[in-house]
Amino acid sequence: MLRSTHAVVNLPAFLKNIRLAKRRLKPETKFLAVIKANAYGHGITTVGEYLEQSGLVDMLAVAIPEEGVRLRASGVTLPILILGVTDPDHIPAVVGNELTAAVFLPERIYAFERCAVASQKTAHVHVKLDTGMHRIGVTDDAMLEDLLDAFDACPHVSMDGVFTHFAKSEADPEFTHLQAQRFDAFVAKIRARGYHPIVHAANSAATLDFPELQYDMVRFGIALYGYHPDAKRSPGSGLTPVMSLITYISNLKTIPAGEGVSYGLRFVASRPTKVATLPIGYGDGYKRCLTGKTDVLIGGMRCPQIGTICMDQMMVDVSEVPGVAIGDEAVLIGRQGNEVITADELADKANTISYEILLSFNDRVPRVYEK
Ligand SMILES: Cc1ncc(COP(=O)(O)O)c(C=O)c1O
Repeated sequence: MLRSTHAVVNLPAFLKNIRLAKRRLKPETKFLAVIKANAYGHGITTVGEYLEQSGLVDMLAVAIPEEGVRLRASGVTLPILILGVTDPDHIPAVVGNELTAAVFLPERIYAFERCAVASQKTAHVHVKLDTGMHRIGVTDDAMLEDLLDAFDACPHVSMDGVFTHFAKSEADPEFTHLQAQRFDAFVAKIRARGYHPIVHAANSAATLDFPELQYDMVRFGIALYGYHPDAKRSPGSGLTPVMSLITYISNLKTIPAGEGVSYGLRFVASRPTKVATLPIGYGDGYKRCLTGKTDVLIGGMRCPQIGTICMDQMMVDVSEVPGVAIGDEAVLIGRQGNEVITADELADKANTISYEILLSFNDRVPRVYEK
């Protein structure tokens, strides 16, 4: 039974977005697809499996070990980098599942070594360098030297990679290049100690805008899903949004002028108004703060959302839609006829970013995959 409210994930759009990025890259540059947070809301296992089968991706990245373990359980064999901190408790699962951890604390290297020896495996890690984001990573030369001493003492821990993360690459070329300079200096010191890991820094913005910062691999996140990190540049970027959000009209009525709609009667009709009810609300992830600010596409027209968005339902003014009927399709994100509503549009109205809109839809909203 498919719930009428569902998200359509157009899988081939991933391939278009990857190919678009690859046109900007050298043929030998490796491609990492960031599929953390349930593949930005698109469904981590299906997306992971699909990307593996595409043959276009060299590595996947998640944020936490649990996400990597889930991918391994679904049969994904690509290398998987965990971008966030791996707590000591999770090291056995990371080593056992052949996941790659981000590391920057010397004591954590020793913990990986102990686990690798005990399980007769090699622990695979990438060193995280903090060049200006100030979230996680090695912050200075003394810390780097301590970390490298730990690597020297831990032969079962393999430094496969070294990376940093840009704080403002969608908006600030100068600071991005300053981060790259700091990164280059750290990388030179690592090489001088005899380590030759693969080097990566570029997120979507840097992949699309700074070919000179592609290093050995790029980490492609939001643009994989069809959005430019700078919302103003999504249109014209050539990226194809992957997810649409669809529901249907579940009830229809005309109310006279002066009647209110939904909790608090925040909308009051100024004329006889045809009101459609849609079975989606903030309990599905359609943000309540969008109340009265968004449109929904019905009959190929933009229809204003009216009244407070409820947990499970919301109302829309469909007075202008000729022949509108119960059962008609309503598009909350995506295209209908000549009209389009993007996650960027909703993000702007909710005062957030496309990332948060895409991954706000929970598992009450089934994902339907188009191949
Ligand atoms: C370390 C790291 N690399 C890459 C990405 C991908 O960034 P984007 O989605 O902007 O491409 C993220 C996302 O937050 C990240 O945390």
